[in-house]
Amino acid sequence: MAGKLVLVGAGPGDPELLTFKAARAISRGDVILKDRLVPDEIIKEHAPEDAEVIDVGKKPGGEGWTQEEINELIVREGSKGKTVVRVKSGDPLIFGRGAEEIEVALKHGMDVEVVPGVTSAIGVPTSLGLPLTHRKCASSFAVATGHEDPSKPENRVDFGALAEAADTLVVLMGARRLREIAREILEKRGNEPVAILERGTTEQERVKVGTLEDAAEGKLKARPPAVVVVGEVVKWWREVLGRETR
Ligand SMILES: C[S@@+](CC[C@H](N)C(=O)[O-])C[C@H]1O[C@@H](n2cnc3c(N)ncnc32)[C@H](O)[C@@H]1O
Repeated sequence: MAGKLVLVGAGPGDPELLTFKAARAISRGDVILKDRLVPDEIIKEHAPEDAEVIDVGKKPGGEGWTQEEINELIVREGSKGKTVVRVKSGDPLIFGRGAEEIEVALKHGMDVEVVPGVTSAIGVPTSLGLPLTHRKCASSFAVATGHEDPSKPENRVDFGALAEAADTLVVLMGARRLREIAREILEKRGNEPVAILERGTTEQERVKVGTLEDAAEGKLKARPPAVVVVGEVVKWWREVLGRETR
C-alpha cells in the first residue's frame, strides 16, 4: 500500500509561528524530511521519538540533498506505506518546490495533504509592523523570486513590469542579485525606500533600511536568507515606527 506525503509549512523561523495543524501533522509522521531553514526546536518538540528524521538541507560534509534525491526518498518511504512529513520553511507551496513533490507522490499512488504555513514573504515584514498594504500608499503587493531556476532561460522575472504593476514589491532569494534587481525597479519607479529583513522572526534577525539607489550602487547589501521590501510602506514604517538599521 502506498503511503502518504504531508507537506507542512513551518513558518518563517520563530517556532511559535508554527500552526497547531502543522504541529499535529509532524507528530504523526513516520519519516520527517526537514529543510535547512526549519528550526531544529520544531522537530525536537513535535516529531515522535521513533520517527526517522532526515535533514535534507544538510549532508555530512557537503551540500544539501538534490531535489531528485528528495523525490526518490519520498517515493521509497511511501512505497513502504509510511507517512512522510515534508517540513518546509514558510509556506510549503511558495518557492519551495512543493508542487514537484506533490506530482511525484501522486504519480506513485501516494495520498497527499498540504498544511499551509506563514510565508516569510508576509510574516517577516508584518512581524516587524511593516505593512505590505496601506490605505494611503499601497493597494497591492507582488511577491517574486530573485533567483530563478537556472535551467529556465526565458522566464526571468521582469522586475520593471512588476514595479509598474504593484505598489509594494517583496523579493525572496534576492540577496545575491540585489544590485541588478534594484536597478531594474529604480528605472521604473525612481528612488524609493527599501527594507532588508534578514533571518526575520529569529534571534539573529537583522533589519536594514535604505533606498533603491543605495542598493543599486551596492551600498545597501543583503545577506541570505532575506526578504526585501520596496515601496512607500517602508517610508511609513520608518516614520511611524522609527525603524532604522540595527
Ligand atoms: C526557498 S525560499 C522558501 C520560501 C518559503 N517557502 C516561504 O514561504 O517563506 C527561501 C527564501 O525565503 C526567504 N526566507 C525564508 N525564511 C526567512 C527568514 N526567516 N527571514 C528572511 N527571509 C526568509 C529568503 O528569501 C530565502 O532565501
